[in-house]
Amino acid sequence: MSKSYWIETWGCQMNEHDSEKMAGTLEGLGYAPADSSLDADVVLLNTCAIREKAEDRVYQALGELAAVKKRRPEMIIGVCGCVAQMSGESIRQRAPMVDLVMGPRASIKLPDLLARLQDERGIVDTTLYQESILAGTETVRRMPGRVKAFVTIMEGCNKTCTYCIVPTTRGREDSRTLSILLDEVRRLAAEGYREVEFLGQNVNAWRCPETKAGLGDLLRAASRVEGIARIRFTTSHPLHLSDAIITAMATTPEVCRYMHLPVQSGSDRVLNAMRRGYDRSKFLNRVAKLRHEMPDIVLSTDVIVGFPGETDAEFEETISLVKQVEFENIFSFLYSARPGTMASMMPDSVPADRKTERLMELQSLQREIQLRRHVAMVGSRHPVLVEGKSRRDAAEWAGRTTSNKVVNFAGESIGVGDIVEVRIIAGGPNSLRGEMIEGPSSASPAA
Ligand code: SAH
Ligand code: SF4
Ligand code: F3S
Repeated sequence: MSKSYWIETWGCQMNEHDSEKMAGTLEGLGYAPADSSLDADVVLLNTCAIREKAEDRVYQALGELAAVKKRRPEMIIGVCGCVAQMSGESIRQRAPMVDLVMGPRASIKLPDLLARLQDERGIVDTTLYQESILAGTETVRRMPGRVKAFVTIMEGCNKTCTYCIVPTTRGREDSRTLSILLDEVRRLAAEGYREVEFLGQNVNAWRCPETKAGLGDLLRAASRVEGIARIRFTTSHPLHLSDAIITAMATTPEVCRYMHLPVQSGSDRVLNAMRRGYDRSKFLNRVAKLRHEMPDIVLSTDVIVGFPGETDAEFEETISLVKQVEFENIFSFLYSARPGTMASMMPDSVPADRKTERLMELQSLQREIQLRRHVAMVGSRHPVLVEGKSRRDAAEWAGRTTSNKVVNFAGESIGVGDIVEVRIIAGGPNSLRGEMIEGPSSASPAA
């Protein structure tokens, strides 16, 4: 009988995609997917270290696995991803039953590490191998039934945001070459994918190490691949969002009219303390440029609430920025001190409950904005890429607009991967309902 594996994934799209890569590697070694962690021969926890809560979840999961390991000591438990890189050996002090600790950029060594685990336990590899992500990824085991495929275009982050653990966990920036990326996009199109999403912590800084092409060139080249109807990319950094990238987006209809552009704060004092490299007015200038070139573009953002020393007045500047920009969506987080970061050493006298109140205020404002924007969409028409059955009602379909909005709608003679024309008939706080007004236009660009 073949051996089996189970991978649990937390964190961002990069981690999700790393899990797809590790699954592919394991299947290449003859492992089959298990039904649960309870009966797997190898369990990998692909972890996220961005906030303390994310880290806590890993130790919770390890606590639950301890009982299983007691029953089946031969099972292999591996901790990989960003907590593995951040905490290394000390994970085994807290959870001695862990057999393998492997950082994100050591995952290329998974076959060797598994071989060593035959007669050795407690291996820790947190080397930031350079070759790890730069090669081709023919063996990725992608999540089944998806219309969108992730493509890592760069690893690591060279920024020094004072609150952030990512530069520690993912190392310095490295870009994959244009030719490797285009080969991958062509292969994905041949496999039937209609949409690709380019991934990196700062995708705007991507630069082909051979040709020196930038993200704009990559977007244009990828749009010429037959069969790819939609292209997305994340995460953009306001400081690196050049006019050249905006123009490439605006002149390439396959690139979705959507951008996730984390602002973090509306206060210049806080942005400076975060070392984001831009101020409020520079951020607003980028938003204006995007909207000037693409009036229909939809923006989402990240906000950190309660950065050390953030005053009420500074928080109000974030509120006023949010009102001014009217993002479609906001991912808002309470600041969490991460070990070894500059911000974790900054004095902070703001009480925790005051921070929570601010978070709630921001979230309630955003709910209002979102609902207003959704209601305003009623009557408008959008090309929608069908992703599957609706989660609410299996008789309906769910798909996405190029602006990344989920729309539920009824329709016949259509299938996953089709692009259909939908009119919005109702808008709620989190979702949209529509009616199909035109059937599939196969292989036509989305915009
Ligand atoms: N590379 C991306 C974001 C990576 S992390 C960027 O630069 O925008 C995703 C989000 O988590 C960040 O945008 C930030 O809002 C949040 N985040 C990062 N570190 C955090 C911390 N220490 N506490 C709270 N939120 C944090
Ligand atoms: Fe973290 Fe800043 Fe890099 Fe984003 S750009 S991953 S927030 S250091
Ligand atoms: Fe988390 Fe690492 Fe992604 S810390 S957000 S999994 S890069």
